[in-house]
Amino acid sequence: MFLVFPDSAAIAAHLSTRLQDIIRQDPQATLGLATGGTMEPIYARFVQDVRTNGLDVSGISSFNLDEYVGLSATHEQSYAYYMRQHLFDQLPFDATRLHLPNGLATEQEQHCQQYSAAIAASGGVALQLLGVGTNGHIGFNEPGTPFDSHTHVVALSERTRIDNSRFFDSMDEVPASAITMGIADILSAREIALVVTGEHKARTMLNYQQGGITPELPFTALKQHANTHILLDEAAASLLD
Ligand code: F6R
Repeated sequence: MFLVFPDSAAIAAHLSTRLQDIIRQDPQATLGLATGGTMEPIYARFVQDVRTNGLDVSGISSFNLDEYVGLSATHEQSYAYYMRQHLFDQLPFDATRLHLPNGLATEQEQHCQQYSAAIAASGGVALQLLGVGTNGHIGFNEPGTPFDSHTHVVALSERTRIDNSRFFDSMDEVPASAITMGIADILSAREIALVVTGEHKARTMLNYQQGGITPELPFTALKQHANTHILLDEAAASLLD
């Protein structure tokens, strides 16, 4: 289902309300979280709203989609750092319930298996927030990733490294690999909110609308999920029928 909003602020207001509703209904809910530019206004609005109304967030658990391999949680470009900066340090969460893949894990395969198992053991994700790459990736599931994948290590595509190089001093510093939840993990969420903003994603959305379901455009897997909402700003929706 496509929902078109005037701008990213309107999407943020909508999703902040949805997140609060979920937490009110189940104060121990598990949330699936994403990073990236798209999510920043959403976390900012949620923090602002919860600071105003005092909603208790201390019981919720969260699992982030992904983390770069080789970056420690204190590295400014790590997703752990991003999450603390935009959300986790801003409200009284219980830090022991907040999970990201560990980019420094030495037993990577075991770590990945444990991460997927922990999501399932938490009772499953009530709401998964998602962004999409210009190449259709969700999490760091790049084109060609099987839809039945669970948490795994992935080599980042050249396209994704170029897209993300804006956050690093040089292209050489962009990590070559990451750990990501798999597409099967993402699809196991009870509700998914895919947020797509900006003119640079308009063609990606047109490909989604016109194409079938294919691993070449990983986010088309969401067409198999009955409770996915795609929230677009007008720029991202500009090429759609
Ligand atoms: C981030 C993630 C990525 C981003 C995607 C869009 O945790 O999983 O899939 O959602 O790369 O990034 P932005 O929002 O920066 O355009």
